[in-house]
Amino acid sequence: MNFNITSFLENVNYKFRKENILTSLPEKFIDDAVNVIPKWKTYAFTSLKNLDHLENKFNIKNIFYKDEGERFDLKSFKALGGAFAVDKIAKNRKSITVATATAGNHGRSVAWGAKRLGIKCKIFISENVSEERANEMRKLDADVIRVSGNYENSLQACIKESTEKNWEIVQDVSWDNYKTVPQLIMAGYTLMVKEIAEQTDINSITHVFLQAGVGGMAAAVIAGFAKFSKNIPCFIIVEPETADCVFQSIKNNKSTKIDIKKESLMGGMSCESVSTIAWEILKESSNFCCTVSDDYIAPAIALLNQKEISKDKIISGECGVPGVIALDGILNDNELKSKLKINSESNVLLIGCEGLTDESNYYEFLEKGIKELRK
Ligand SMILES: Cc1ncc(COP(=O)(O)O)c(C=O)c1O
Repeated sequence: MNFNITSFLENVNYKFRKENILTSLPEKFIDDAVNVIPKWKTYAFTSLKNLDHLENKFNIKNIFYKDEGERFDLKSFKALGGAFAVDKIAKNRKSITVATATAGNHGRSVAWGAKRLGIKCKIFISENVSEERANEMRKLDADVIRVSGNYENSLQACIKESTEKNWEIVQDVSWDNYKTVPQLIMAGYTLMVKEIAEQTDINSITHVFLQAGVGGMAAAVIAGFAKFSKNIPCFIIVEPETADCVFQSIKNNKSTKIDIKKESLMGGMSCESVSTIAWEILKESSNFCCTVSDDYIAPAIALLNQKEISKDKIISGECGVPGVIALDGILNDNELKSKLKINSESNVLLIGCEGLTDESNYYEFLEKGIKELRK
């Protein structure tokens, strides 16, 4: 099965400025995160896999897949961010309560971080978050509060109640006067890049595909390259076609809130606006943006599971596969392929952001995907 991308955009304002990036995401936070997190019990590198069948199909030197499905027992890169921020905020204050709004994985990270330290945790979720994801957070002793409406409504409820009750908000999105916590969270994410620098020759990486919701992960990985790599690769942002806030912001050269008419199946990426710190970084450092359709999620999950993409079976959740879809879509389009200069000398990096974070959802996608592949 071949994929296509829905829309594509070049960032005409591209100008990679390392100093600016490492000011938006302060270098000292990165140093702290990459020093502190590896000392946590159960810390281990996630593996950097080769998607060898895809490499052969398109004659690409390397297609790396950083498998964040292996990240602690939380199974997504989010485990690096929220838990690190909780660690820094708590500073041994056991009496505090932390709170956050989440589509699932970030909340798990905050809840896990709170449980590690024995502090209380309140998680706000919208109607769109599955009970399975809610239960995962309850298992980590978090008090889960369901709010009617979408993610934005859950965030507003979180801010209101936390302000009234003096809870510490640990949010992965920044807004005016709320920057330090999201910076800490993003600093946690940069550990992925530090690991990659130890797993392969990071300077040889030519292209990086970065899924985006509010853009925190994408901007953090870019900052990680600014910090840990001498060579700066081409960065391609990937979003759901129904939630393309980074794409629209780059197009308008201005942070742009979009109207989500239909929530994407890529739940963690279904976001209306770009986090302000992420925007500071992405506006000048992303080279291209593209969007992908929800229709490809199930088949892509199935392809990875059925060893069609690599000799190893890969378990990837709905936010783990968009990079694979976008890369395949670009490689199926000769014009885009040559515009991005992806060829037999390229070393492409994909971030497999999440694994089995929502089991029942995953198996539903898998079954559907396998049927579609057989059609
Ligand atoms: C599970 C999950 N949540 C969220 C995101 C988006 O991250 P951010 O909101 O930092 O852009 C991703 C990225 O793919 C993801 O995999």
